[in-house]
Amino acid sequence: KKLILSMIQPTGTFTLGNYLGAVKNWGPLQEEFNCVYAVADLHSITVTQEPAKLRQNSLQAYALLIACGMDPKKSVLFFQSHNCNHPELSWVLGCSTQFGELQRMTQFKDKSAKHADNINAGLFTYPVLMAADILAYNADLVPIGADQKQHLELARNIAQRFNQRYGDFFKLPEPYIPKMGAKVMSLQDPTKKMSKSDENPNACILILDDKDTIIRKFKRAVTDSDTEVRYAEGKDGINNLMTIYSVVTGKTFEDIEKDFAGKGYGDFKMAVGEAVADHLEPVRTEFARLMNDKAYLKECYTAGAEKARIITQRTVSKVYHKVGFVDPK
Ligand code: TYM
Repeated sequence: KKLILSMIQPTGTFTLGNYLGAVKNWGPLQEEFNCVYAVADLHSITVTQEPAKLRQNSLQAYALLIACGMDPKKSVLFFQSHNCNHPELSWVLGCSTQFGELQRMTQFKDKSAKHADNINAGLFTYPVLMAADILAYNADLVPIGADQKQHLELARNIAQRFNQRYGDFFKLPEPYIPKMGAKVMSLQDPTKKMSKSDENPNACILILDDKDTIIRKFKRAVTDSDTEVRYAEGKDGINNLMTIYSVVTGKTFEDIEKDFAGKGYGDFKMAVGEAVADHLEPVRTEFARLMNDKAYLKECYTAGAEKARIITQRTVSKVYHKVGFVDPK
Protein backbone atom coordinates (compact mmCIF):
# COMPACT_ATOMS: atom_id res chain seq x y z
CA LYS A 1 0.00 0.00 0.00
CA LYS A 2 1.14 3.52 -0.72
CA LEU A 3 1.92 5.82 2.17
CA ILE A 4 0.21 9.21 2.23
CA LEU A 5 1.50 12.02 4.43
CA SER A 6 0.42 15.56 5.06
CA MET A 7 0.39 18.17 7.81
CA ILE A 8 -1.22 21.46 8.68
CA GLN A 9 -0.09 24.33 10.88
CA PRO A 10 -2.17 25.06 13.99
CA THR A 11 -2.79 28.77 13.44
CA GLY A 12 -6.38 29.34 14.58
CA THR A 13 -9.06 27.40 12.75
CA PHE A 14 -8.55 26.16 9.19
CA THR A 15 -9.48 28.42 6.29
CA LEU A 16 -11.73 27.33 3.45
CA GLY A 17 -8.47 27.25 1.42
CA ASN A 18 -6.84 24.75 3.80
CA TYR A 19 -10.02 22.72 3.69
CA LEU A 20 -10.71 22.61 -0.05
CA GLY A 21 -7.06 22.57 -1.10
CA ALA A 22 -5.93 19.90 1.33
CA VAL A 23 -7.82 18.60 4.38
CA LYS A 24 -11.05 17.69 2.56
CA ASN A 25 -9.06 15.29 0.37
CA TRP A 26 -7.24 13.59 3.22
CA GLY A 27 -10.17 11.64 4.66
CA PRO A 28 -11.14 9.68 1.53
CA LEU A 29 -7.51 8.59 1.02
CA GLN A 30 -7.73 6.58 4.25
CA GLU A 31 -9.93 3.99 2.53
CA GLU A 32 -7.20 2.98 0.11
CA PHE A 33 -3.85 3.90 1.63
CA ASN A 34 -1.83 4.05 4.82
CA CYS A 35 -2.14 7.64 5.95
CA VAL A 36 -0.06 9.78 8.28
CA TYR A 37 -1.47 13.19 9.21
CA ALA A 38 -0.16 15.66 11.77
CA VAL A 39 -0.49 19.10 13.28
CA ALA A 40 2.73 20.91 12.32
CA ASP A 41 3.28 22.68 15.64
CA LEU A 42 7.08 22.78 15.24
CA HIS A 43 6.64 24.72 12.01
CA SER A 44 4.24 27.16 13.61
CA ILE A 45 6.82 28.77 15.93
CA THR A 46 8.73 30.13 12.94
CA VAL A 47 6.43 33.11 13.47
CA THR A 48 5.83 34.56 16.94
CA GLN A 49 3.23 32.61 18.93
CA GLU A 50 1.70 33.23 22.30
CA PRO A 51 2.29 29.92 24.18
CA ALA A 52 -1.16 29.50 25.77
CA LYS A 53 -2.81 30.38 22.48
CA LEU A 54 -0.60 27.99 20.52
CA ARG A 55 -1.49 25.13 22.87
CA GLN A 56 -5.19 25.89 22.46
CA ASN A 57 -4.92 26.27 18.68
CA SER A 58 -2.99 23.02 18.40
CA LEU A 59 -5.59 21.03 20.29
CA GLN A 60 -8.30 22.64 18.18
CA ALA A 61 -6.44 21.77 14.99
CA TYR A 62 -6.18 18.15 16.11
CA ALA A 63 -9.91 18.00 16.90
CA LEU A 64 -10.66 19.66 13.57
CA LEU A 65 -8.73 17.00 11.68
CA ILE A 66 -10.94 14.36 13.26
CA ALA A 67 -14.03 16.48 12.62
CA CYS A 68 -12.98 16.73 8.95
CA GLY A 69 -12.96 12.96 8.61
CA MET A 70 -9.60 11.75 9.84
CA ASP A 71 -10.06 8.50 11.73
CA PRO A 72 -7.43 8.02 14.46
CA LYS A 73 -7.94 4.26 14.19
CA LYS A 74 -7.27 4.13 10.45
CA SER A 75 -4.59 6.83 10.23
CA VAL A 76 -1.56 7.83 12.22
CA LEU A 77 -2.76 11.16 13.66
CA PHE A 78 -0.47 13.12 15.95
CA PHE A 79 1.41 16.30 16.87
CA GLN A 80 4.69 16.83 15.05
CA SER A 81 6.36 17.91 18.32
CA HIS A 82 5.57 14.50 19.83
CA ASN A 83 7.93 12.75 17.45
CA CYS A 84 11.54 13.82 17.98
CA ASN A 85 12.61 11.88 14.88
CA HIS A 86 11.42 14.76 12.68
CA PRO A 87 13.93 17.33 14.00
CA GLU A 88 16.62 14.63 14.18
CA LEU A 89 16.25 13.78 10.52
CA SER A 90 15.90 17.46 9.69
CA TRP A 91 19.42 18.12 11.00
CA VAL A 92 20.95 15.53 8.70
CA LEU A 93 18.92 16.67 5.68
CA GLY A 94 19.88 20.28 6.38
CA CYS A 95 23.47 19.27 5.80
CA SER A 96 22.43 18.13 2.31
CA THR A 97 20.62 21.38 1.55
CA GLN A 98 22.24 24.46 0.07
CA PHE A 99 21.79 27.98 1.42
CA GLY A 100 20.87 29.17 -2.06
CA GLU A 101 18.08 26.63 -2.41
CA LEU A 102 16.40 27.84 0.76
CA GLN A 103 16.88 31.45 -0.28
CA ARG A 104 14.89 30.77 -3.44
CA MET A 105 11.78 29.54 -1.60
CA THR A 106 8.96 31.96 -2.41
CA GLN A 107 7.26 31.35 0.94
CA PHE A 108 10.47 32.35 2.73
CA LYS A 109 10.72 35.50 0.63
CA ASP A 110 7.07 36.40 1.33
CA LYS A 111 7.23 35.64 5.03
CA SER A 112 10.54 37.38 5.64
CA ALA A 113 9.19 40.47 3.89
CA LYS A 114 6.09 40.35 6.08
CA HIS A 115 7.86 39.58 9.38
CA ALA A 116 10.97 41.69 8.78
CA ASP A 117 11.52 42.01 12.53
CA ASN A 118 11.80 38.24 13.01
CA ILE A 119 13.65 36.54 10.16
CA ASN A 120 14.77 33.66 12.35
CA ALA A 121 16.80 30.61 11.35
CA GLY A 122 13.71 28.39 11.73
CA LEU A 123 11.83 30.39 9.14
CA PHE A 124 14.75 29.87 6.78
CA THR A 125 15.17 26.12 7.38
CA TYR A 126 11.43 25.47 7.55
CA PRO A 127 11.39 23.52 4.22
CA VAL A 128 14.11 21.18 5.52
CA LEU A 129 11.91 20.18 8.46
CA MET A 130 9.06 19.68 6.02
CA ALA A 131 11.29 17.42 3.93
CA ALA A 132 12.11 15.47 7.10
CA ASP A 133 8.38 15.14 7.91
CA ILE A 134 7.84 13.51 4.54
CA LEU A 135 11.03 11.47 4.14
CA ALA A 136 10.98 10.07 7.68
CA TYR A 137 7.96 7.98 6.58
CA ASN A 138 9.18 7.40 3.03
CA ALA A 139 5.86 8.84 1.89
CA ASP A 140 4.74 8.14 -1.68
CA LEU A 141 2.14 10.87 -1.99
CA VAL A 142 1.73 14.25 -0.29
CA PRO A 143 -1.74 15.83 -0.63
CA ILE A 144 -1.24 19.61 -0.53
CA GLY A 145 -2.49 22.88 -2.00
CA ALA A 146 -0.58 24.58 -4.83
CA ASP A 147 1.35 26.88 -2.47
CA GLN A 148 3.30 23.94 -1.00
CA LYS A 149 4.44 22.55 -4.35
CA GLN A 150 7.81 24.30 -4.29
CA HIS A 151 8.55 22.89 -0.82
CA LEU A 152 7.72 19.41 -2.05
CA GLU A 153 10.04 19.80 -5.02
CA LEU A 154 12.80 20.81 -2.63
CA ALA A 155 12.10 17.71 -0.52
CA ARG A 156 12.55 15.61 -3.66
CA ASN A 157 15.83 17.35 -4.48
CA ILE A 158 17.14 16.83 -0.96
CA ALA A 159 16.16 13.15 -1.08
CA GLN A 160 17.86 12.73 -4.43
CA ARG A 161 21.04 14.39 -3.24
CA PHE A 162 21.12 12.21 -0.13
CA ASN A 163 20.60 9.11 -2.30
CA GLN A 164 23.44 10.13 -4.60
CA ARG A 165 25.84 10.69 -1.75
CA TYR A 166 24.95 7.74 0.50
CA GLY A 167 23.29 5.22 -1.82
CA ASP A 168 19.66 4.79 -2.78
CA PHE A 169 17.48 5.12 0.29
CA PHE A 170 14.64 7.66 0.15
CA LYS A 171 11.65 7.35 -2.16
CA LEU A 172 10.93 10.52 -4.11
CA PRO A 173 7.54 11.76 -2.87
CA GLU A 174 4.93 12.92 -5.39
CA PRO A 175 2.67 15.91 -4.81
CA TYR A 176 -1.07 15.24 -4.90
CA ILE A 177 -2.69 18.55 -5.81
CA PRO A 178 -6.44 18.64 -6.49
CA LYS A 179 -7.59 19.80 -9.95
CA MET A 180 -10.12 22.11 -8.32
CA GLY A 181 -9.58 24.06 -5.11
CA ALA A 182 -5.78 23.85 -5.06
CA LYS A 183 -5.66 27.62 -4.78
CA VAL A 184 -8.67 29.21 -3.14
CA MET A 185 -8.42 32.98 -3.54
CA SER A 186 -9.15 35.84 -1.13
CA LEU A 187 -12.77 37.02 -1.25
CA GLN A 188 -11.58 40.63 -1.08
CA ASP A 189 -8.74 40.43 -3.61
CA PRO A 190 -9.20 37.41 -5.86
CA THR A 191 -5.68 37.75 -7.27
CA LYS A 192 -4.24 36.79 -3.86
CA LYS A 193 -4.57 33.41 -2.16
CA MET A 194 -6.99 33.11 0.77
CA SER A 195 -4.95 33.28 3.95
CA LYS A 196 -5.57 33.35 7.68
CA SER A 197 -3.16 36.22 8.08
CA ASP A 198 -5.18 38.60 5.87
CA GLU A 199 -5.93 41.81 7.81
CA ASN A 200 -9.41 41.99 6.30
CA PRO A 201 -11.58 39.37 8.06
CA ASN A 202 -14.00 39.38 5.10
CA ALA A 203 -11.26 38.02 2.83
CA CYS A 204 -11.16 34.63 4.47
CA ILE A 205 -13.77 32.00 5.39
CA LEU A 206 -12.87 30.06 8.52
CA ILE A 207 -14.37 26.60 8.66
CA LEU A 208 -15.74 27.27 12.14
CA ASP A 209 -17.53 30.48 11.07
CA ASP A 210 -21.28 30.23 11.64
CA LYS A 211 -23.73 30.21 8.76
CA ASP A 212 -24.62 33.91 8.97
CA THR A 213 -20.96 34.92 8.97
CA ILE A 214 -20.19 32.69 5.99
CA ILE A 215 -23.10 34.08 3.99
CA ARG A 216 -22.22 37.65 4.93
CA LYS A 217 -18.60 37.20 3.79
CA PHE A 218 -19.69 35.72 0.47
CA LYS A 219 -22.22 38.51 -0.07
CA ARG A 220 -19.39 41.02 0.29
CA ALA A 221 -17.05 39.11 -2.03
CA VAL A 222 -15.36 41.32 -4.61
CA THR A 223 -16.41 40.43 -8.17
CA ASP A 224 -16.48 42.49 -11.40
CA SER A 225 -18.68 44.93 -13.28
CA ASP A 226 -20.07 42.25 -15.60
CA THR A 227 -23.33 40.58 -14.54
CA GLU A 228 -23.13 37.08 -15.99
CA VAL A 229 -22.15 34.09 -13.89
CA ARG A 230 -19.62 32.43 -16.19
CA TYR A 231 -16.06 31.19 -15.92
CA ALA A 232 -13.83 33.44 -18.00
CA GLU A 233 -10.50 35.18 -18.07
CA GLY A 234 -10.48 38.45 -16.15
CA LYS A 235 -13.34 37.36 -13.88
CA ASP A 236 -11.10 36.26 -11.00
CA GLY A 237 -13.71 36.85 -8.30
CA ILE A 238 -16.46 34.91 -10.07
CA ASN A 239 -14.02 32.19 -11.14
CA ASN A 240 -13.04 31.72 -7.51
CA LEU A 241 -16.67 31.56 -6.34
CA MET A 242 -17.54 29.12 -9.13
CA THR A 243 -14.62 26.91 -8.17
CA ILE A 244 -15.64 26.89 -4.51
CA TYR A 245 -19.26 26.18 -5.42
CA SER A 246 -18.25 23.43 -7.82
CA VAL A 247 -16.03 21.62 -5.27
CA VAL A 248 -18.69 21.84 -2.56
CA THR A 249 -21.71 20.81 -4.66
CA GLY A 250 -20.07 18.61 -7.29
CA LYS A 251 -21.65 20.69 -10.08
CA THR A 252 -19.64 21.42 -13.21
CA PHE A 253 -19.03 24.98 -14.42
CA GLU A 254 -21.54 24.32 -17.22
CA ASP A 255 -24.23 23.28 -14.72
CA ILE A 256 -23.54 26.39 -12.68
CA GLU A 257 -23.68 28.70 -15.70
CA LYS A 258 -27.03 27.16 -16.69
CA ASP A 259 -28.47 27.31 -13.16
CA PHE A 260 -27.63 30.99 -12.81
CA ALA A 261 -28.37 32.16 -16.35
CA GLY A 262 -30.34 35.38 -16.14
CA LYS A 263 -29.77 35.68 -12.41
CA GLY A 264 -27.49 38.28 -10.83
CA TYR A 265 -24.35 37.99 -8.75
CA GLY A 266 -26.38 38.55 -5.58
CA ASP A 267 -28.31 35.29 -6.03
CA PHE A 268 -25.15 33.40 -6.90
CA LYS A 269 -23.19 34.68 -3.89
CA MET A 270 -26.09 33.73 -1.64
CA ALA A 271 -26.15 30.21 -3.10
CA VAL A 272 -22.40 29.79 -2.65
CA GLY A 273 -22.63 30.98 0.96
CA GLU A 274 -25.49 28.59 1.72
CA ALA A 275 -23.76 25.63 0.08
CA VAL A 276 -20.48 26.23 1.91
CA ALA A 277 -22.20 26.77 5.28
CA ASP A 278 -24.30 23.62 4.87
CA HIS A 279 -21.28 21.62 3.79
CA LEU A 280 -19.33 22.72 6.87
CA GLU A 281 -22.18 22.31 9.36
CA PRO A 282 -21.33 18.70 10.31
CA VAL A 283 -17.67 19.68 10.81
CA ARG A 284 -18.68 22.40 13.29
CA THR A 285 -20.98 20.05 15.19
CA GLU A 286 -18.44 17.27 15.43
CA PHE A 287 -15.71 19.74 16.42
CA ALA A 288 -17.81 21.04 19.34
CA ARG A 289 -18.47 17.51 20.51
CA LEU A 290 -14.78 16.55 20.36
CA MET A 291 -13.62 19.65 22.23
CA ASN A 292 -15.82 18.45 25.11
CA ASP A 293 -13.98 15.16 25.21
CA LYS A 294 -10.35 16.08 25.85
CA ALA A 295 -9.65 12.66 27.35
CA TYR A 296 -10.54 11.02 24.04
CA LEU A 297 -8.37 13.48 22.10
CA LYS A 298 -5.44 12.74 24.40
CA GLU A 299 -5.87 9.01 23.97
CA CYS A 300 -5.80 9.50 20.20
CA TYR A 301 -2.75 11.73 20.01
CA THR A 302 -0.74 9.69 22.48
CA ALA A 303 -1.37 6.52 20.50
CA GLY A 304 -0.78 8.36 17.22
CA ALA A 305 2.64 9.65 18.27
CA GLU A 306 3.64 6.19 19.41
CA LYS A 307 2.81 4.69 16.02
CA ALA A 308 4.58 7.55 14.27
CA ARG A 309 7.78 7.10 16.29
CA ILE A 310 7.92 3.39 15.51
CA ILE A 311 7.85 4.08 11.77
CA THR A 312 10.39 6.91 11.82
CA GLN A 313 12.84 5.44 14.34
CA ARG A 314 13.85 2.88 11.73
CA THR A 315 14.46 5.61 9.17
CA VAL A 316 16.54 7.75 11.50
CA SER A 317 18.64 4.79 12.68
CA LYS A 318 19.39 3.77 9.10
CA VAL A 319 20.19 7.35 8.09
CA TYR A 320 22.52 7.82 11.06
CA HIS A 321 24.31 4.63 10.10
CA LYS A 322 24.54 5.65 6.44
CA VAL A 323 26.14 9.00 7.20
CA GLY A 324 28.74 7.29 9.37
CA PHE A 325 27.68 7.72 13.00
CA VAL A 326 28.64 4.93 15.40
CA ASP A 327 25.69 2.58 16.02
CA PRO A 328 24.44 3.05 19.60
CA LYS A 329 23.76 -0.69 19.99
P1 TYM B 1 -0.41 25.25 5.86
O1 TYM B 1 -0.70 24.97 7.30
O2 TYM B 1 -0.07 26.64 5.47
O3 TYM B 1 -1.61 24.78 4.97
C1 TYM B 1 -2.18 23.48 5.07
C2 TYM B 1 -2.62 23.01 3.70
O4 TYM B 1 -3.58 23.92 3.15
C3 TYM B 1 -3.19 24.29 1.83
N1 TYM B 1 -3.66 25.68 1.57
C4 TYM B 1 -4.44 26.03 0.54
N2 TYM B 1 -4.99 25.31 -0.46
C5 TYM B 1 -5.76 25.98 -1.34
N3 TYM B 1 -6.02 27.31 -1.28
C6 TYM B 1 -5.49 28.08 -0.31
N4 TYM B 1 -5.77 29.38 -0.26
C7 TYM B 1 -4.66 27.43 0.67
N5 TYM B 1 -3.99 27.86 1.77
C8 TYM B 1 -3.39 26.78 2.31
C9 TYM B 1 -1.67 24.18 1.83
O5 TYM B 1 -1.18 24.02 0.53
C10 TYM B 1 -1.46 22.97 2.70
O6 TYM B 1 -1.55 21.77 1.95
N6 TYM B 1 4.30 23.61 5.42
C11 TYM B 1 2.91 23.19 5.47
C12 TYM B 1 2.63 22.19 6.57
C13 TYM B 1 3.52 21.01 6.54
C14 TYM B 1 3.47 19.93 5.62
C15 TYM B 1 4.49 19.02 6.03
C16 TYM B 1 2.65 19.65 4.52
C17 TYM B 1 4.51 20.74 7.43
N7 TYM B 1 5.09 19.56 7.14
C18 TYM B 1 4.71 17.84 5.32
C19 TYM B 1 2.90 18.47 3.81
C20 TYM B 1 3.92 17.57 4.21
C21 TYM B 1 2.03 24.41 5.70
O7 TYM B 1 2.47 25.38 6.28
O8 TYM B 1 0.74 24.25 5.35
